[in-house]
Amino acid sequence: MLTIDPQNIPTRDMHQYLLGSVAPRPIAFASTVDADGNANIAPYSFFNAFSSNPPILVFSANRRVVDNTTKDTLSNIETTREVVINVVNHSIVRQMAVASIQFDTGVSEFAKSGLTPIPSDVVKPFRIKESPVQMECKVKDIITLGDEGGAGHLIICNVVRMHIDENAIDNGRINPHKLDLVGRMGRAYYTRASGDAVFTVVQPVMKVSIGFDALPESVRNSHVLSGNDLGILAGLHALPTAEEVEKVRENEAVKALIQTCGDDKNALRTRLHHYAKTEIGKGNKELAMSVLSFSDKF
Ligand SMILES: Cc1cc2nc3c(=O)[nH]c(=O)nc-3n(C[C@H](O)[C@H](O)[C@H](O)COP(=O)(O)O)c2cc1C
Repeated sequence: MLTIDPQNIPTRDMHQYLLGSVAPRPIAFASTVDADGNANIAPYSFFNAFSSNPPILVFSANRRVVDNTTKDTLSNIETTREVVINVVNHSIVRQMAVASIQFDTGVSEFAKSGLTPIPSDVVKPFRIKESPVQMECKVKDIITLGDEGGAGHLIICNVVRMHIDENAIDNGRINPHKLDLVGRMGRAYYTRASGDAVFTVVQPVMKVSIGFDALPESVRNSHVLSGNDLGILAGLHALPTAEEVEKVRENEAVKALIQTCGDDKNALRTRLHHYAKTEIGKGNKELAMSVLSFSDKF
């Protein structure tokens, strides 16, 4: 393991280790105005949601590492205490990149990026029309974390109005494939949260699972099953009954394995673990657990 003492490495290196490790990060495309109403937009990926009631988003505008200057977004928010946080999906990521360039104060990143400002309902900053989710916010607090290059300012935002593109909604819930968000990683890397990159982990939260420690030792120490396989089995609500385990004897695939392996018990146990793994992959975790328990009989 590479072990790092943050006191002993340059800030730019620490920054990159953090960006690469805490990733992918959602991107707040922050829209603000200055005291004269001039519009400013810039992306911020030190960002997340922290509370649903009240609905709170936090992002951090850091002091630049190169020259310790602060960002226009921060000074606008200090003046107006308002911001619109727009999400970034794949279709606007290149325009977002243009808006992140350090133009002179007063230059409109809307004009530079070709994105379209539209009025908000309750705050002065504009929404970005092309963004599929726009959240109008009043700034609750700004927490300054230091005064040297790289130091963040946590901007704590209370969402007072939310707008979601209806094309991204199915049955009252956001469909990630339709929203097609992008996430920021380290260096120039981004990720796209749709298609094959998206998967589901269905785990009921109200019903208690047996847990890893309830799995038989032979299963926990299996050379065939992975940590994720064991995680799926740990999510079962009960171990199979003796009858369920015995019923495995009638399973055609198991019968074939018993025949093939003959007296070679080790081979049979391994083959049964492989079969159970396949069934876990198909979503048949109860059958898989019965097969694994059955394999202990040999
Ligand atoms: C995807 C992306 C994410 C960024 N995240 C941050 C961030 O979390 N904090 C920050 O201070 N700067 C971040 N930046 C850099 C700012 O967007 C950049 O400094 C910008 O010029 C600031 O504009 P402003 O001065 O108009 O606020 C990010 C840039 C990109 C492209």
